[in-house]
This record gives sequence, structure tokens and C-alpha cells, in this order.
Amino acid sequence: MSRFGLTSTVCMCVILACTIFTVSSVSHTKVTLINNEYHDIVIAIEDNVPEDKALLDKIQEVFTDASAFLCEITRYRAYFKSITILVPKSWTDDPQYETHNYETYETSDIRIDDTDHDGPYVMKPTPCGEVGDYMHLTADYLMDSTIADSYGIYSHVIVHEWGHLRYGVYDEYPGGNTGAPYFYSSGSGDIEATRCSTAVTGVMKNKVTGADCVYINNYPEDDCRFYDSGSFTGSLMYRQYLSQLIHFCDNETFADTLESIHNVESPSKQNRLCEEKSVWEIMREHVDFADGANPPGAGCDATLTLPEFRIVKQQGSRIALVLDVSGRLVKGIEVVQDGDSSRLGGCLVVVSDGEENTSPYIYEVIPTLIAKGICVDVIAFSEQASLNLELLPTSTGGRAFFYSESATSNALNEAFATIATRGKSALEQAVPLYSNTIVINGYDTSGFSFDIDASIGMDTEFLFNYLQYTAIEVTVHTPNGSTIDKDSSFYNLDSTFKLIRIKIPGIAEVGTWTVSISNPSSSTEYVGVIVQSKSSTPGEYPITVTSEWSANTITPPEKLRLYATVSKGIMPVLNAHVVATVERPSGDSVQLIMTDNGGGADITKDDGVYSSYFTAFAGSDRYSVKVEVTNTGGDTVISPSRVVGFGSLTNPDLPSTGQQPEDESTGKFQRAANGGSVTCDGSTACSGYYDLYPPAKIVDLQVTKVSYEDRGITLQFTAPGDDLDFGNATAYEIWMHTDFSTMSSNHEDTTNTTQDHFVEGVLSSPQSPGETETFTIVVPNQGEITYVFCVVAIDDGGNKSPRSNIVSASMKYFPQTNYLVVVLIISAIVIVLIAIFITTLICMKKKYRVKQGTVPVA
Ligand SMILES: *[C@@H]1O[C@H](CO)[C@@H](O)[C@H](O)[C@H]1NC(C)=O
Ligand SMILES: *[C@@H]1O[C@H](CO)[C@@H](O)[C@H](O)[C@H]1NC(C)=O
Ligand SMILES: *[C@@H]1O[C@H](CO)[C@@H](O)[C@H](O)[C@H]1NC(C)=O
Ligand SMILES: *[C@@H]1O[C@H](CO)[C@@H](O)[C@H](O)[C@H]1NC(C)=O
Repeated sequence: MSRFGLTSTVCMCVILACTIFTVSSVSHTKVTLINNEYHDIVIAIEDNVPEDKALLDKIQEVFTDASAFLCEITRYRAYFKSITILVPKSWTDDPQYETHNYETYETSDIRIDDTDHDGPYVMKPTPCGEVGDYMHLTADYLMDSTIADSYGIYSHVIVHEWGHLRYGVYDEYPGGNTGAPYFYSSGSGDIEATRCSTAVTGVMKNKVTGADCVYINNYPEDDCRFYDSGSFTGSLMYRQYLSQLIHFCDNETFADTLESIHNVESPSKQNRLCEEKSVWEIMREHVDFADGANPPGAGCDATLTLPEFRIVKQQGSRIALVLDVSGRLVKGIEVVQDGDSSRLGGCLVVVSDGEENTSPYIYEVIPTLIAKGICVDVIAFSEQASLNLELLPTSTGGRAFFYSESATSNALNEAFATIATRGKSALEQAVPLYSNTIVINGYDTSGFSFDIDASIGMDTEFLFNYLQYTAIEVTVHTPNGSTIDKDSSFYNLDSTFKLIRIKIPGIAEVGTWTVSISNPSSSTEYVGVIVQSKSSTPGEYPITVTSEWSANTITPPEKLRLYATVSKGIMPVLNAHVVATVERPSGDSVQLIMTDNGGGADITKDDGVYSSYFTAFAGSDRYSVKVEVTNTGGDTVISPSRVVGFGSLTNPDLPSTGQQPEDESTGKFQRAANGGSVTCDGSTACSGYYDLYPPAKIVDLQVTKVSYEDRGITLQFTAPGDDLDFGNATAYEIWMHTDFSTMSSNHEDTTNTTQDHFVEGVLSSPQSPGETETFTIVVPNQGEITYVFCVVAIDDGGNKSPRSNIVSASMKYFPQTNYLVVVLIISAIVIVLIAIFITTLICMKKKYRVKQGTVPVA
């Protein structure tokens, strides 16, 4: 049964979306490197940044310096050439601002915001070597040198972040949210600090006491840190605040200096996620430099690397809705250009339910769309819609949605609600809280309940659409016990378009709302429901969820990932329950539990980006996904000390800016988001009959405990699945050796352990994907020796995952305590006790006096 005709679609569009459209453009960057010059970089200023013309000068100064430094560090192969700065609507007009084209804040490469957290970072949920989403800076970071100083020289920080964003490389320093331990064990059993190059020297000290580090379980104590010494010229992806770091790490063949020779043994995030390759090795495979593209240019003369800046101001919206694709795209382009054919930018929303049968065909129009910077979102309507449709969003940076016309699918409503949020700051957009199709038998009543949290509640709107001739009746019960029904003035029935709309004035009450729907007709009714609401406090971000597939079209065994970002502004929401429901062409759906644990498809733990692979293909067609997010109890928190991404480290030698803010419970909340559609292309590969996916590579293997006495080493990792992270794997192989390079070059030349080696963990019974696996092995020898390990997972068809990251553990004898520290600790305790004693004495005396003084005078 089909839910809508095209007319009804237009109506839903008007209600849900079109009234609040603004320009939205490509989600993927337009940046290209041509003749060593980066073109079309967009730096956008968020609406909440107070007007300050000096900021525009500062941006130009910082990016001019960064361009010169980028030229040097890329060995004359790249620098910034054309940069557009997008000024927000809230700023006043200025004749120096040029005509605005396609640029938007949401699609910009570098975003300048006004938030409490000033640390520069990059949003990059994608795997090693892939471009990230954007770089985030704050106006205070750029304008206040005392804030900036703790991150290092501007040009170094910007190029460090550019490394993450453009080349897809990761940090080489330990700690923070890198998941990298501070120390590892080198070949001879010695403890080494995690760093790019072992040529960088320094000392290990307790960061609190300054004393030598104590060893606990053959590993330095928690407070032990490595302090670099000397003026080495090592790697910028290491501690970017050290001004002497002016190279990217490279292998022995090409490294610029001894101190930038890549250390393959370091358990850094870069090595863990990039198969132990150095930054330059990844860069040489990047599209900008692969196969010798952009060879070294003429040098880095300041006149050469000086970028050209354009400043434009954000303007209003130019959107056209295109119903059915054949021949109409050209008309749509004319509409967004609004009579000026030289105009760039704008967006089309194409809704199509059929094959294209008249020219110009999609492929003929795409070059024009790209040249004019017009983005296209498509909603494919029914399975007959042409598979060429996805070419439009793929080549213009738009989004693809799919509505199967199944009576139980609410994907069309969700698609419009999602498109409506594009190009709109989360400060002002309507956030979808609940989306579902409620099935009600004849003459029956059904319903649902959902939670409103404190971050949301302004302009809360309930939208219901139904199919039968007789209108359904809806009753909403508010948390305080009052009811809203068809007699209420907020209740609006449109029987022509079979829509009911209930709009709560003011700010909706926090708590659980209950909705009941009765079906007055004798036939089964299918009611599509969307509830949406805006931020409860002007200028404060609500909790939002955005979700996206990693591709619009895929052919297995290519890997398809799904991402869902759960955050309040730039603060991640941690420990949320995130479930994706994927509608398959076969008609049934599959649920995925998405995780933010840094394992499997997830790149960074606790950054608010929840990730999952999808492998359960069942036909060569479109797949649509809805993501639902709820709290899991008191554990679900907003984390103000973290960001949705990862980035520069502050210099620990500078005075800290005070207490880290505490995590704050979200309370009960829920959100829904449509992640759009993906097309599986290939009748055999997509059939689901063949096991094309091995278990996912394990990327978070770590040593959690070493016991010298028992010769015990405990390993932990996140369980992968049978197909990447779906279903249970069948077995693990844990490989062991004493030589790192043998293991990294060919782990199959090392020892395959058997169950007999383990006192904890069973190789033949992997847990469900996402669970933590723990194995404790008893190794053969003690002494000046290091054991290295990796894990391989196997599925029921005997397919093996690539080997995991490699970890090391020392079996050398380390004295477990340090005499000096014991003395220090004991003296500290004695001093504290004496202090308490004295304070108590003083207080008692004072109290006594106060008491005497306050006795009422009779
Ligand atoms: C260094 O990397 C290049 C590829 O980027 C490779 O061709 C070369 O063999 C590597 N050298 C070493 C010593 O690994
Ligand atoms: C209960 O909530 C409704 C809507 O949220 C509001 O109109 C009404 O005044 C509230 N009643 C009481 C008693 O607070
Ligand atoms: C590794 O050991 C397991 C049994 O412990 C065995 O089934 C498997 O074939 C071995 N793999 C290799 C490559 O030797
Ligand atoms: C996967 O393994 C877990 C724990 O070993 C078990 O509880 C679960 O039922 C298994 N799942 C399937 C689909 O077999």
C-alpha cells in the first residue's frame, strides 16, 4: 500500500521542511590540490560569534603563516591558495564583502565558533587516510594569545589539524582521547615512551611529585610521564606545541632528519589505525600526492604561498523542489538561479518515483550542477526509481533518502524533517524527537510515549498522517496530567491531506508525554508520526543527533559504515543507547547497536560519534536507515571536557586553566534521525548469499596487566563479529613473538598460541560484537625480553580478519617500589596528619569562641 501520492508529498514538504529551508550545500569538501595550490577552502564563522572585523584580519594572518609552513613541511608540494571567509548573517553589511555563492557554515572546511572549549580540533570519524569533516577553531583561540600559546604557534597548530583533516592521519602523542598508552616495551624489555621517533630523548618522571617513576606490574605507575629534552626537530603530529617540530614523520628511506624517522613500535593512534605506517607514507597514498601527483614546486617564497582571500556574507535561501527527474532538473536550476544565470550555489530537492525517460538525462546535467555549485538531495520514491538518481547527491555533495512506500515506513516524513535541518544551525532548527508508524486495528486505540528533556521544548510539534477516509483522533497527555485533544485550540486537522498537527505553545514541559490514537474506521490504519522541538534556551544548543552512511553506493566487499553523532553543541553525549534500524529491499529490517568505544568501525572512543558497519545486504537496491537514541540511565552524560573530534594537545608545562568541568547527566531524553539511504550495486555481491565479509580488524588490542612473578600478560580488545561487526565470530588466533618487525611484516612467521597457553579466555567462543574480550596468557620466559602480540578473528566460513594492531609487554625484572618515593609518600602523609591535627585544634578553639559570642543576650 502506498502512503502518499506526489501531491501529498508536496504538502508534507511544506509542513515539515520547505517553510524553514535555507541554502544547504555539499557535505563533502570542494577543496582540490592543483599545481601545489589548495583551492576552494571555506572558512566559516558561526552566527553566534560577535561581530569583530579584527577577526577577519587575524584569520588571514594565521592562514598566511600556515600556508608558508605547510609548503615547507610538505617539501614544497602544497600550500593554501584560494580561501573564502564566510561572514554570518548576524554581522552588518560591508561593501568589502563579495557576492555569496554556495558556501555555508555546515559544509565549510574550517569553522569558527564561540564555545567555552577553545582547543582546536578536527571532526573526523573516518578511517586512516580519508578526509575528515571539518576543523573547529574558536574566535577566542584566534584573538586571545594567552589561550593560543598553550597550543603552540598558530601555523603549527593549523597544519597539525590540517594533517588530521586532509590527509587522515592521527596523533602520535599518548593520552588524551588517543587511546594510546604513555609507554610500551621495546625489544630488549626496556620501557620506552610513546613517540614518533626514538631519537627524541627525555626523562621519565612522576608528573605530580617529580620523582623517578615507580613500576607497578612491570609498567610505569599511572602518573609517570615522559618529558622531552633537547631541541630535536621531530614530528608535528607529536606534541604540536613544541615549536621545534617542523617535519612529518617518514620511514628511514625518506625522513628529513634522524628525529623524524618513524617509530613503528610506538603504540600511538597513528600506528594503531594506520597499519604502523608513518604520516608521510599515508600522505604519499593520498589523492593529493599519489603516483607522484603535485611533485615539489618552486619553493616556498612568501609571494608564492600567500593565499588569496575572498570575504562573503551569508545570504538567504534558494531552494527548489523538483518532482520527478526527467527533464525537470534544468527547470530547477533556473529556479534556484532566480533569473541570474551567472549565480552559483543553491539546492535542489528531487523527489522521483520513476525511471528517467526523457533527455536531458541525469549524467548530462551533472557537469552543470557541479559548475554552478548546486547541491542536490534526492528522495527516491518506490523501488522503481532510477538507480542513476544517487549520482546526483554523490557528485554534488547532497544526501540520498529512500521511501519504500511500505505502509509501515515513516521514511518520507523523516527525510523531509532531516532535509529541513540542513543549512540551519542546531541553535534554531527543529530537532526530531520521535518518528514511527503506528499500526492500529479497526475501531481500536494505540499509542506511544516519549520524553522531553531540559535542552529542548520550544515550538514542540506533533505531526500525524493517516490513510483512511475517516480521520483518526489523537489525545496527548502532558507530564502534568492535562490533556490536549481535538477540542483544543492547538489541534489542527486537515482532512484533505489527512494530516493532524498539534503545536504546543511556549516551552513544553520536561517529562514523559503520552499519546493515544484511536481509529474510528473498520480497517487497519497506519499513522505516520513525527514529534519535533527546538532548543529550550535561546543561544544554547539542544542535544542533537545527525546520522550518515559513509557512501551513497557500495559494492560488497567494500566496507559500509554508519555514523551517528550525538552531542550538545560541540560537547559529546556519552554512553547513550544508539540503535539503527535498516529497512532492506527484502521488506524486513535489521537492527544495529552503534557504539562509541573506539573498537570496530568506531575511530575515537568517547567523542560522541557512534559507529557501526553494515553487512546484512539482501538485494541489489536501496537501504534506508533510522537511528533512535535514548539515555541508558544515569550513565548517559554530556561531557563538557571533551569535544566531538580530536585535536591539539595543550602544553602541560604552562599553568592549567583550572578545573576540568564535570560530566552532567542528560536525564531522560530521546531523539530520532533518518540517516538517508545507500544503494547496494551488484546482483551477486548484494544478494546476501555469499560470505563476503570476514570479521573486522581489531584496532583496540591493549595490554592491561603484566605480572612478572606469574609470567602472566593480560590482553583486552573489543569483540568483532562474524561479518565485520555483525553476528558472533567463531574463533580467535592470538599470535605471539619476541620480535616486533617479524610480527609486523608477517605475523604468520610467529607463534600461534593454543588454548593451553591461556589461564583466562577461550579462543573458540567469541562474545557478541562490541563486548570486551579478556585473555591472560602465561608466557614461556622471564628476563630481558619483550613479548609482542596480535589477534586474528575467524568466521564460520573460515574467513580471517586482518591482524590487529600489535602490542608489547616486558618480562624484565623491575623493582616494584622506589625507596625515595616511599619516603616521600610517608613524609607527605605525616605532614598532612600534623596539618589536620593543628587545623582541628584551631577550629575547636574558634568554635568555642563563636559559641560564646552568639549566646543570646537575655
Ligand atoms: C618508505 O615508504 C615508501 C612508500 O611510501 C616505500 O616505497 C619504501 O620502501 C619505504 N621504505 C622503507 C624502508 O620502508
Ligand atoms: C500543564 O501543561 C500544559 C501544557 O504543557 C499547560 O498548558 C498547563 O497550564 C499545565 N497545567 C498546570 C496545572 O501546570
Ligand atoms: C592456529 O592454531 C589453531 C589452534 O590453536 C589452529 O586451528 C590454526 O590452524 C592455527 N593457525 C595457523 C595459521 O597455524
Ligand atoms: C553470541 O555470544 C554471546 C556470548 O558468548 C551469546 O550470549 C549470544 O547468544 C551469541 N549470539 C548469537 C547470535 O549466537
